[in-house]
Amino acid sequence: MIKAVIFDLDGVICSTDEFHYEAWKTLADRLGIYFDRKINERLRGVSRMDSLDIVLERSDKAYTPEEKLELATEKNECYKKLLMKMSPADLSDEVRETLLALREKGYPMAIGSSSKNTKQILKNIGLEGFFNAVSDGTNISRSKPDPEVFLCAAEYLGQKPCDCLVVEDADAGIIAAKRGGMSAAGIGPAAEHPEADYRLDSFSKLKEILF
Ligand code: BG6
Ligand code: MG
Repeated sequence: MIKAVIFDLDGVICSTDEFHYEAWKTLADRLGIYFDRKINERLRGVSRMDSLDIVLERSDKAYTPEEKLELATEKNECYKKLLMKMSPADLSDEVRETLLALREKGYPMAIGSSSKNTKQILKNIGLEGFFNAVSDGTNISRSKPDPEVFLCAAEYLGQKPCDCLVVEDADAGIIAAKRGGMSAAGIGPAAEHPEADYRLDSFSKLKEILF
């Protein structure tokens, strides 16, 4: 039985996945490295440094750890500039109404995101303090597909993993949820993942699963 819901953030609650793409594309273009949306799909749910390694796969140059840190910081600065444009208007009516309906039904809800920018994004879109718990890139040492971020979210909520439903747009996130012993609902690119227990063609379909 599903007693609680854990949401990924980027690409599920809001469209920051597009900003991640723009920022990586800007960095790759400056470095003269080929990067497209297909490669970008592999970055969904993956940590900043692991994402950089994927971007650099097509580079002829070998980068030192210090140089890599600088590149990751450059990407993040570009990404943060894009985040500054975000406001509560960037939370869709569908997501807002669905979240409010789930809260009304009494479901404890958490965020489970690899992003270290999670709290700033929640603030920008008007969801600061909305979730019962936030587990993000600042409290984990292993990124998705490792289940750590979701296991922490379940623990913060005081729920057993098997009672939690994870909502994810990333294949890495579906794998993480299943490894953590949770149910997984795939949305967007992850809706087709073979391990997803539920396929959502829209966010509000969650109500059909949970009500
Ligand atoms: C995930 C995104 O939510 O967060 C990834 O899907 C991103 O694309 C990761 O790399 C880390 O984000 P940040 O904001 O800490 O660089
Ligand atoms: Mg995501």
